[in-house]
Amino acid sequence: MFIRLTQAMSTAGRSIAIQIDGLVAGYGGATILRDIQLSVEHRQIVAVLGRNGAGKTTLLRCLSGLVPARAGSIHLDGTDITGWSPSRRVAGGVAHVPEGRRMIAGLTVRENLLVGGYVTPRKQRAARFAEVLELFPVMRDWLGRDASNLSGGQQQLVAAARALMSPPKVLLLDEPLTGLAPSVAYDVLDAITLFRDQGRAVLLVEQNAHMALEIADTAHVLDRGHITEQTREAGRVQVEEIERGYLGLQR
Ligand SMILES: Nc1ncnc2c1ncn2[C@@H]1O[C@H](COP(=O)(O)OP(=O)(O)OP(=O)(O)O)[C@@H](O)[C@H]1O
Ligand SMILES: [Mg+2]
Repeated sequence: MFIRLTQAMSTAGRSIAIQIDGLVAGYGGATILRDIQLSVEHRQIVAVLGRNGAGKTTLLRCLSGLVPARAGSIHLDGTDITGWSPSRRVAGGVAHVPEGRRMIAGLTVRENLLVGGYVTPRKQRAARFAEVLELFPVMRDWLGRDASNLSGGQQQLVAAARALMSPPKVLLLDEPLTGLAPSVAYDVLDAITLFRDQGRAVLLVEQNAHMALEIADTAHVLDRGHITEQTREAGRVQVEEIERGYLGLQR
């Protein structure tokens, strides 16, 4: 119990939601992530930036249990979840919004949202549904539509809303701004910020470094399987410095 508590507390006394230590993962003969060290606190947005193919999606898939860890560990609130199945992680409060359009064809937007709340106790589901609609009021007009017929940007919003149906402690967002018009992208940034302010931990993977850094508390760059060890406080470090490092990877 003592070990659990100390593991869950950072030195500053803030609580760590997700702690990744020495994580190694890959596909077949390829090692994509090498010795990843990263933590996300409650009430914190951590951005992970990196070029195409850097392993950002793989990192999120490891956290949600879709890609197994070959070495290292993942702790959720001090509990080792490295061996947990994806569904157990969802029930434990880890929600993953995958990249791209992932609507269930033939189901309406309402049904897609309710599927996202399947681990939520039935009594709380209706309240959660109302809260999510309050966050994204534009979705009220789409509730009866087949979700797979929505535009790409609209599907991104529904995918984000669906993850919020299972009141997660930890939200893993894979490029949530892709394909969104700037005004809608800012709505999504506002929703992510609100989510953080409610005490949740957010791991945000984005190509759009500029927008991600507007809301991130901390940012890292993933490159050649390694994550920048130095935690950069997004508020203090010049955005340009991260962008230079980030753009430097594109050469
Ligand atoms: N299922 C898979 N099987 C084999 N290799 C894979 C698989 N998924 C991804 N990869 C490879 O792993 C590497 C990392 O891919 P990943 O999708 O994690 O990158 P990413 O940083 O999310 O890229 P992007 O910015 O384009 O989304 C790439 O070289 C990719 O080709
Ligand atoms: Mg990706």
